Amino acid sequence: MPDIAAEKQLKVLSPGKIGGLELRNRIIRSGCFEGMCPGGFPSDPLLEHHREAAAGGAAMTTVSYCSVSFDGRGFDSEMWMREEIVPELRRLTDAVHLEGAAASIQLGHCGYFSSKSVIGRRPLGASRKFCTFRYAFAQEMTEEEITRVTEDFGKAATLAIKAGFDAVEIHAGHGYLLSQFLSPYTNRRQDRYGGSLENRMRFPASVIKHVRETVGADFPILIKMNLRDGFKGGLELDEAIEVAKRYEAEGASALIPSGGFTAKTPFYMMRGRIPLKEWIHGPKSLLEKVGLLLFGSILVQTYPFEELFFMEDSLKVREAVSIPLVLIGGICSIDNMEKAMQEGFDFVQIGRALIRDPDLVRRIERGDWQESQCDHCNRCVAEMENGGVWCVSKVKGQYKG
Ligand SMILES: Cc1cc2nc3c(=O)[nH]c(=O)nc-3n(C[C@H](O)[C@H](O)[C@H](O)COP(=O)(O)O)c2cc1C
Repeated sequence: MPDIAAEKQLKVLSPGKIGGLELRNRIIRSGCFEGMCPGGFPSDPLLEHHREAAAGGAAMTTVSYCSVSFDGRGFDSEMWMREEIVPELRRLTDAVHLEGAAASIQLGHCGYFSSKSVIGRRPLGASRKFCTFRYAFAQEMTEEEITRVTEDFGKAATLAIKAGFDAVEIHAGHGYLLSQFLSPYTNRRQDRYGGSLENRMRFPASVIKHVRETVGADFPILIKMNLRDGFKGGLELDEAIEVAKRYEAEGASALIPSGGFTAKTPFYMMRGRIPLKEWIHGPKSLLEKVGLLLFGSILVQTYPFEELFFMEDSLKVREAVSIPLVLIGGICSIDNMEKAMQEGFDFVQIGRALIRDPDLVRRIERGDWQESQCDHCNRCVAEMENGGVWCVSKVKGQYKG
């Protein structure tokens, strides 16, 4: 077989390493919630979705989103990690491995935007805070609950290894529980977990430390983190840089700087059109539908799409840490990927362009892919609540308004 990376001189096609894991190239399918775990059980479509990403040439595919605890779920179609699902996950990782790729799984906890109807209790959060996404108050976590969830992260990582995953990705961004502790917006605590950055970092940093102690020295732990929450009063870049350094010190193998707050600025992390119409038609309570209809366009802010939209801020993290750094956000062409490599990033994670063309790496190798036709209509986002994520533009045509 010809050495395609050398032939084309594309660094992104050359092998890379995260912790003890060798990857065949530097393109990773990012965690994009698939909506393919009815009742919290991994399904055959989920397996096929990731097998297809692996067959398409990505070095690693990320199964998203798996809660570490039963009470960390936002949708009924979200998994939570438990013995019962390990055999199904093992089938998935076996299928990915047969296609020559590695498999990672995103582990997190939704915290204050967990769904009460799914978890059967008031959601837990850093502080008692009203969630405009769920129209409900969260309950401030006790120290015992913080310890329990920390341990849940360790147990979930252990089960992920048992299920054959090659890496875990801790979700510490996007306004999920760990990012809720970091954010001054959601963390109003008066104890040793609130106030100063040192205190706000205590819980997320102890989770990374605990997972590292649980999985051993070499097992890859990627951390998805926020550069900025995307609104006034949230986490900003100067603090995020300190957080990145702390994660490195606690044993992170690689960082994925991202941004946004799911319950407040969900499109900060994606950019492009807001699929409000399609969202309202998804499975929601009447209250949520009416809320979206009346206030959706006020509550959900639009961010115009730009290529490489997190690059400038991520470069500041690049200067601060020496572990591998993964660029994410608006990577839609070979030029974008190579630019990331030239700027010192070790890997790229790609979401929408790989939802559109799961085989884009193979096509780059064959020389018949230059840039994605993804139009950032974000209808794929609405689809994740409607039975499973897919590229609506590719099948139904570009969004016409
Ligand atoms: C349909 C969809 C679902 C997503 N679900 C998740 C998720 O569960 N966890 C996560 O960290 N990011 C999620 N994201 C964000 C992506 O992983 C990625 O950070 C973002 O889309 C920017 O990358 P892109 O421009 O390559 O799409 C999702 C994105 C899309 C489009």
